[in-house]
Amino acid sequence: MELKLLTPLKTGDVKLANRVVMAPLTRCRTAEPDNVPTELNAEYYAQRASAGLIISEATQISRSGQGYAGSAGLYTDAQEAGWKKVVDAVHAKGGKMSAQLWHVGRMSHAYFQEKGGAPVAPSAIAAEGSKCNIVLDNGTHAFVPCDKPRALSIEEIGKIVGQYRDSAARAVRAGFDFVEEHAANGYLLQQFQATNTNRRTDKYGGPLVNRARLTLEVLDAMLEVVDKEKLGVRLSPYFNINGIADAEPEQMALYLADEFSKRGIAYLSIAEPSWVGGISLTETFKKKIREAFSGVLIYAGEYTPEKAEEAVNSGLADAIGFGRLYIANPDLVERIRQGGPYNVPDRSTFYTAGSKGYTDYPALSKT
Ligand SMILES: Cc1cc2nc3c(=O)[nH]c(=O)nc-3n(C[C@H](O)[C@H](O)[C@H](O)COP(=O)(O)O)c2cc1C
Repeated sequence: MELKLLTPLKTGDVKLANRVVMAPLTRCRTAEPDNVPTELNAEYYAQRASAGLIISEATQISRSGQGYAGSAGLYTDAQEAGWKKVVDAVHAKGGKMSAQLWHVGRMSHAYFQEKGGAPVAPSAIAAEGSKCNIVLDNGTHAFVPCDKPRALSIEEIGKIVGQYRDSAARAVRAGFDFVEEHAANGYLLQQFQATNTNRRTDKYGGPLVNRARLTLEVLDAMLEVVDKEKLGVRLSPYFNINGIADAEPEQMALYLADEFSKRGIAYLSIAEPSWVGGISLTETFKKKIREAFSGVLIYAGEYTPEKAEEAVNSGLADAIGFGRLYIANPDLVERIRQGGPYNVPDRSTFYTAGSKGYTDYPALSKT
């Protein structure tokens, strides 16, 4: 009997071949210093094109929004052209792809900031114990503590909203099937959402609706240039690393899910926190999310193919994102169809340069 995970899923006028999603994965392998996607990146994504949907690695909307050397950008013509080659390669193999747009906020370093200034955030609160990745004078990459940020002015917040809009327009021009707002994992938008990282006293801080405001303003700006049926958002309720300790994670997720639903966007992708030591999201919580959001729901976090099949059969998820399994198994869909075997991901090459641990994981026929 065919697995439901391998059956098609329609969202808007886009038909996904199956419900296996390649979760967004930062791999730090674009061309430095301009963060332009390369032929190697195109090869990596094209190898994984049998996924129902590939979500790109997080892609910064500005240099100031970067926190990891080698992560991709989408704010220059060269980056747009680089992404077009990647998307064309995925389309040539019949795949569909979403562009995940991010701003890291305080998860950054003077290295990425104009004139070596402080990174930006809702409030001047450091992400204690968090690391970003910079290029040293000798050309090697190194993980270093993030720098203490400064609080954004209202005018600067408006500029960031505009940068999301511009980047989203570039994503459409590059041919992406979807564009995703990265509002998860302790980066800028979740820094605004969470009670402990947002101490503002203006319209972006205080009550929940104010803390949610920037996430929705960004989405509305993206909606000006992307069809609603081509838009997605990623949230990570109960996420508890990168210095996030939100007192109202459920309320925030439900409020936002409802607002996303009103706007009729294509999908909501939920990053479950258990893979980084957080709680397991309960069935009760997932039911509430299902009620609040009428579009496609994608969950990711420590799913085995068996657990993923259960999740889509339960009706609480429409599709499942696989992260580390996709790093190691370019032909994950075929492997799921055959019941395995699965290559094991090598953590030591998650964020290193070159093809090792990137495009050299064997497909089944070559195993
Ligand atoms: C190397 C690596 C890079 C990641 N990069 C991103 C990213 O760019 N954007 C994002 O939203 N999540 C990112 N994640 C989280 C994954 O999308 C996913 O939620 C997580 O790996 C849990 O799924 P898994 O247990 O199937 O690996 C990353 C995870 C890993 C391991």
